[in-house]
Amino acid sequence: MPVVPVFTARDVYAALDPSGAVEAVREAFVEHARGAWTMPSKVYLDAPPNGDFRAMPASGGGWAVLKWVNSYPRNPARALPTVSGVVLLSETDAGQLQAVLDAGAVTALRTGAAAVLAAETLARPTLAPAAVVGVGVNGRAVARTFLAREREVQLWDAEPVQASLVAEELGEGATVAADLADALAADIVVTVTPGREVLFHDGSLHAGQHVSLMGADGPGKAEIAVEELVRAHVVCDEWEQASHNGDISHALEARKLRREQVAELGKILLGEQIGRRDEHEITVFDSTGLAVQDLAVAVAVFTRYREAPASFPDVVGVELG
Ligand SMILES: NC(=O)c1ccc[n+]([C@@H]2O[C@H](COP(=O)([O-])OP(=O)(O)OC[C@H]3O[C@@H](n4cnc5c(N)ncnc54)[C@H](O)[C@@H]3O)[C@@H](O)[C@H]2O)c1
Repeated sequence: MPVVPVFTARDVYAALDPSGAVEAVREAFVEHARGAWTMPSKVYLDAPPNGDFRAMPASGGGWAVLKWVNSYPRNPARALPTVSGVVLLSETDAGQLQAVLDAGAVTALRTGAAAVLAAETLARPTLAPAAVVGVGVNGRAVARTFLAREREVQLWDAEPVQASLVAEELGEGATVAADLADALAADIVVTVTPGREVLFHDGSLHAGQHVSLMGADGPGKAEIAVEELVRAHVVCDEWEQASHNGDISHALEARKLRREQVAELGKILLGEQIGRRDEHEITVFDSTGLAVQDLAVAVAVFTRYREAPASFPDVVGVELG
């Protein structure tokens, strides 16, 4: 009987550190942009009024993955996570399931990695601290990733106690921003809010700034005003997905932005498109979260486990078949 290892959130974090996730996610963006990895459209299954479910498949490098997660924005009020579910990892030779992983941890690692990779690719080359606005599950992961890359972070959250708790948990290098305006004025800003309120209003971005917008990953969500977005050099994670579900969808609908004005992060990493043009340009990364990122992180976790299973005494196996 095949025994399939099941990775809890703790196991996922023990296997892969945030810098390892950045390198895995870099590979995902590059391989996807090269056309070597495949990613069919995300399938949404609405569950009104609570939220929705998402089925996210991808394959590449001899692996196939399916992430099955919910997005339930009101769950924190029930002391439940906004996003939870599982990632199923199979090999594509005999098509056998290889691992089951906690989707919340995989998502947090790859979301933190994408936000930081975009900032490292598009921001001016400074050592300035980054501000992270919205430090729930995924914002905290972004802050953790910046710290792992030796960049200090200033945190802001609509719930002040949340920012203080996360700053305390992350320790050295993490502080609470003086106020929201101060956080939004940082040279590098990452927003990871539910996307119910616009954070960047007309005229709020300053020359040379980089912003990674991570929160608006579904219809009706926005973290930036259309007029403000179109002042920037806009880069998305993937055109198909972001043009339907990201911040750019509103600017496209309003006909204030055209496809040829939007670059893709993977194509910039490949050298096929232009990233930052000069120190005055404002750069914005619009992320909706790609299944290829989940694939890369799941493979990296499983590979580390397979290299030294004895280092993961808590990973249990389930007999299937
Ligand atoms: N782009 C991606 O790859 C990706 C990945 C995961 C989650 N997301 C999206 O990111 C958002 C956050 O997800 P999460 O799992 O971290 O949620 P969460 O509920 O754990 O955290 C959200 C945090 O934002 C804070 N917040 C709410 N409104 C705010 C505001 N106006 N200003 C500052 N802080 C505010 C909340 O207090 C909370 O701490 C969601 O919209 C989710 O769908 C995107």
